[in-house]
Amino acid sequence: MLKRTHHCGQLRDTDAGSTATVAGWVNSYRDHGGVIFIDLRDREGLTQLVFHPENKEAHDLADKLRNEDVIAATGKVVPRAEGMANPKLATGAIEVDCDTLEILNKAETPPFTPDEAGKVGEAQRLKYRYLDLRRPAMQKILRTRHRVTKIMRDYFDEEGFYEVETPFLCRSTPEGARDFLVPSRLHAGSFYALPQSPQLFKQILMVAGLEKYVQIVRCFRDEDPRADRQAEFTQLDLEMSFVDQDDVMNTVEGLVRRIWKQVADIDVPPVQRMTYAEAMDRFGSDRPDLRFSMELIDVTDLASQTEFKVFTGSIAAGGQVKAIRVPGGATLTRKQTDGLAEWVKQFGAGGLPICKVENGTVATGVAKFIEPIAGALIEKLGADDGDLICFGVSDKKSVVARVLGELRVKLAHELKMIEPGQWKWLWVVDFPLIEYNDEQKRWDSLHHPFTAPSDEDLALLESDPGAVRSKAYDLVLNGSELGGGSIRIHSPQVQQKIFNLLGIDDEAAKAKFGFLLDALKFGAPPHGGLAIGLDRMVMHLCGTTNIRDVIAFPKTQNGADLMTEAPSTVDLAQLDELSLRVQTHHAPDKAV
Ligand code: AMO
Repeated sequence: MLKRTHHCGQLRDTDAGSTATVAGWVNSYRDHGGVIFIDLRDREGLTQLVFHPENKEAHDLADKLRNEDVIAATGKVVPRAEGMANPKLATGAIEVDCDTLEILNKAETPPFTPDEAGKVGEAQRLKYRYLDLRRPAMQKILRTRHRVTKIMRDYFDEEGFYEVETPFLCRSTPEGARDFLVPSRLHAGSFYALPQSPQLFKQILMVAGLEKYVQIVRCFRDEDPRADRQAEFTQLDLEMSFVDQDDVMNTVEGLVRRIWKQVADIDVPPVQRMTYAEAMDRFGSDRPDLRFSMELIDVTDLASQTEFKVFTGSIAAGGQVKAIRVPGGATLTRKQTDGLAEWVKQFGAGGLPICKVENGTVATGVAKFIEPIAGALIEKLGADDGDLICFGVSDKKSVVARVLGELRVKLAHELKMIEPGQWKWLWVVDFPLIEYNDEQKRWDSLHHPFTAPSDEDLALLESDPGAVRSKAYDLVLNGSELGGGSIRIHSPQVQQKIFNLLGIDDEAAKAKFGFLLDALKFGAPPHGGLAIGLDRMVMHLCGTTNIRDVIAFPKTQNGADLMTEAPSTVDLAQLDELSLRVQTHHAPDKAV
């Protein structure tokens, strides 16, 4: 095999006159009056090869080349002819005039070439992922991902963290999602769970005296995939001992500052903080997108001065009326606003009262019901002619927040209010410790059951548990939750109390978390940490809105790997070994 001397992105006009050997994939083939031009592609770029008929042997071979054949070629680096240089290409000043060609492997006609991948459906791209990944855009994403994890490892090494691997075959940790289960052959009828996160192991590492732990770790949650969610995803997971909330947050800020600088040449300013209560009040979300305004304004007082039953009924029932001002939103048609009214129903709203601002007063929609307050409303919202006003109204404040919180994001995107190139970072702090689950009639943790209550609110744990704030914090970027963490409970008594509050009695707590409660008894230091979604971080850095783009081998919306055809049925013999019987067993046609 010819020995490669240069990558396809490497040669410049200063190399003219030297001999080079390049190797890669045939990206394109052109025959100009007997002279053959090949664009050769490798990971680093493209180089133009030329085969003249005088070099008969190489020329004859080149004549047989097809897209995606794998070759190596040697020749003289020469400047391109006058007017033929390609300034868009790093190697565009030169070409390699080849006298030797070796075909390393022929390729059948591929279902699509890298140039065509943008035009084929995603299912096809995922089935032939190796062809899709040949695209320079995909290679750039994987390179960025590599750089990000490299920066992470260097940063945490400098900060004194140890990278420790935690098990994949675990007991389940209750973190809200469904577990992936793995049957045990040696313990018939028992199952391991794949970790939803290494939460308990990292806490136990603190009890073990590691002090600073970090891991870039795969996590598994059997949830339906979404644009920013995969069942199998990667976290940057960390935990620290003898720290408070600020120490963890500062460590994480230092990391994102370094990553954004080194990868995107962007300076991350000190990240602002906002309490959960303020975020919900002003933006109707615990991960507010601060790239646009449209804040939620409480207009309950004004609304109570009207005779509009939709408003007064909800207020009488202890509810609330809030409004957002949509700048320029008066351009929305009746059909569009009716569509929004339907859309908000999924968040529990009965509908979406709206009005427009025209000639200094309200018009259309619910205008006739709110005329007496028109002037005061316009003033309170700072509205102008051409704006749209949307009302969130419900007996439940949480519904008002959800409806308007979701609506402001949807409208900002649809009305193109978000200026590109903005990076709005935010820490959301002081989350409630628990929230009441109306359906299940019980309290649930907002973060997870190991999160410490805030010291000031400890006394409320029994009298008013819903009012207790926690030492939890989320890192939000442009309205997306990038990471979350908390200071943990390190006292076995407090931990037991929280389990009880969550409806896990002493016996159940012992059965499920006996090891944690035991560990906390034997000298657990105060500790806390956080996990960042690595895939989401790379999505932001690469400017993609699809999590599958940043994962080399992702799953589809219904959890399938189209390339390997996982999941698949298995042989009955395999099931027997695991003491399992499947209720509807399909023929093992796709057994692996
Ligand atoms: P949490 O569950 O908030 O916390 O997860 C931390 C971060 O992981 C990312 N993430 C996901 N990314 C892609 N697909 C998913 N299905 C998915 N689920 C979560 C998010 C999220 O912010 N053990 C705690 C952390 C801690 O307390 O230290 C935990 O896992 O970006």
